[in-house]
Amino acid sequence: MEKIHAVITGVGGYVPDYVLTNEELSHMVDTNDEWIMTRIGVKERRILKEEGLGASYMGRKAVKQLLKKTGVDPEKIDAVIFSTSTPDYHFPSCASIIVGKCGLKNAFAFEYSAACCGFLYAVDTASALIECGRYKKIIVVGSDKMSSVVNYKDRQTCPIFGDGAAAVLIEATHEDFGQMDAFLKCDGIGLPFLHLAAGGSVCPSSYFTIDNGMHYIHQEGRTVFKYAVTNMSECSAKVAERNGLTGDDITWVVPHQANVRIIEAVAKRLDVPMEKVMLSIRHYGNTSSASIPLCLWDYEPQLRKGDKLIFTAFGAGFVYGASYLKWGYNGDGTDKVEVID
Ligand code: UT7
Repeated sequence: MEKIHAVITGVGGYVPDYVLTNEELSHMVDTNDEWIMTRIGVKERRILKEEGLGASYMGRKAVKQLLKKTGVDPEKIDAVIFSTSTPDYHFPSCASIIVGKCGLKNAFAFEYSAACCGFLYAVDTASALIECGRYKKIIVVGSDKMSSVVNYKDRQTCPIFGDGAAAVLIEATHEDFGQMDAFLKCDGIGLPFLHLAAGGSVCPSSYFTIDNGMHYIHQEGRTVFKYAVTNMSECSAKVAERNGLTGDDITWVVPHQANVRIIEAVAKRLDVPMEKVMLSIRHYGNTSSASIPLCLWDYEPQLRKGDKLIFTAFGAGFVYGASYLKWGYNGDGTDKVEVID
């Protein structure tokens, strides 16, 4: 039987209008633009300010744009996988809300919780579902409203994060494009270093948890930084090596946007110059699940069919990994791979 590949055939995105600058942050906590730019690389981030809106709202905006751009029939979508750490509710899932709002009448839908690595995991899962022949069209959404869990009195975390969403359509093809390989890992040692303590089943919300700031991100930055550099670099290098890719062969590295110094270390390990690394951290900060697809959204016009992309991410858990994809269309929408309908 002819091999089926799973290939990205479109990208949609959404970021809220409100821009929170370093200047504004410096009036909220003891920080400044120079420290944030040199230590993290963020100039500004988008914040979803409107009350009553969450991750599914931003995800829905991204999916609607994706459906419009690709022209795909919403009723042909087989599944929606929604990656987030900041879902609208414990239940129902953001994925199910999107199915209802976007008229994806024939899709099954579920949430994916793998922190900042969620998009990578979700793309690999979607690819496996397609490669086995059961499904042909899956939408993967990465969306996070990090402002809902950031303590804007904590200077160690509040400059890092932002809100945003992006979605990709993944389709089946017999052509030799799409995800070629993935190396996904979890070491399970990350809980003490990066977590949100309350609001789950171990520690449900109470006056105590609110009074003690337990609904905010807790991060031990230096430790997380060290593990992020090591693991993203090693996974990327492993995927490159086992697919015979040198730095020259790689067209783009698409890293999770947590810290520009982490990204530079990964690029160095892969022997790829920074001109070939997608960066959106300056304007969006760390949008967790959305950071890799938001890069694709920003850089889509520059992408060409056949470009060789390395995705890599790291997040709470610790979860991490890298994947290798051969891009399936030109940025202007031409020369798209032939998909199996
Ligand atoms: O996406 C999930 C994965 N997350 C990550 O990958 C994040 C990984 N960690 C990081 O990116 C970095 O560790 C941070 C950006 C969080 C922090 O950068 P750092 O270079 O590790 O700084 P640090 O925590 O070691 O702090 C250095 C100094 C400290 O002052 P002293 O003790 O040396 O006097 C901090 O108090 O910088 C101080 N500092 C600040 N100064 C101005 C910490 N935050 C700030 C701030 N503005 N916002």
